Amino acid sequence: MVDLLALEKERFEGFTYEDWARYFAENDKARLVQDFSREPALPSHVRKRIFPSIGAFRQGEASEGRYLRAAAEGFPVPGCAEAIGLFIKEENWHAAYLVRFMEYHGAPPPKPSRLDKVFRWLRRLGGLRCQVTVLVTAEMLALTYYDALGQGSGSPALSAVCGQMLRDEGPHVVFQSHTLRHYRNGPGTRLLRRVLMDGTALAVWGACRKVYRAGGYGFARFWRENRGYLEQSIAITRRK
Ligand SMILES: [Fe+2]
Ligand SMILES: [Fe+2]
Repeated sequence: MVDLLALEKERFEGFTYEDWARYFAENDKARLVQDFSREPALPSHVRKRIFPSIGAFRQGEASEGRYLRAAAEGFPVPGCAEAIGLFIKEENWHAAYLVRFMEYHGAPPPKPSRLDKVFRWLRRLGGLRCQVTVLVTAEMLALTYYDALGQGSGSPALSAVCGQMLRDEGPHVVFQSHTLRHYRNGPGTRLLRRVLMDGTALAVWGACRKVYRAGGYGFARFWRENRGYLEQSIAITRRK
């Protein structure tokens, strides 16, 4: 499990949006080089297990972030829009890694994902605060999902992609938590964030449980780790 509180303290404490923009721009210079030289053909039971949910996550990563960009433009803290633009670019790289992996294995193009539609619909309900709250929930779930996916597929190429995702998504959760710091984070907000996490976690478990199980996650571990990430994100929003 990624220690988000330690990560924030060691690498991102006191970060302004300008610092975040520099961080994302630096990452952009060294993207993952995907290597398929040791990649085996995947057995059909593995293909059936992994490709539907990889397709769903790929759609989430591929968002152009039009609403998020527009909300960031109106946010009265300098540098926010630029940092968010670079963050979206990083997410689009994640989509590209998954697309390349699916294409290498000749996987069918993903069907529209109900989960992705729900996330997009929820994000559009409000301004920057609402969008970031929904987004960071998906990113915390991505931390457990990519960890499980990387462990359980027997694919070195996918393990490398998932490793990169984990290195990027931890900082993303810290980045979104820094934005949420600008708002009030009282008991009502915390309750809402817990309800949102629990509801979406149940939906993700329903759709992806075979991937989680193959990656060593029973329901109890899945629940505990996602709740753990949420509590750490809340703690970061309350750190001054
Ligand atoms: Fe991502
Ligand atoms: Fe992310």
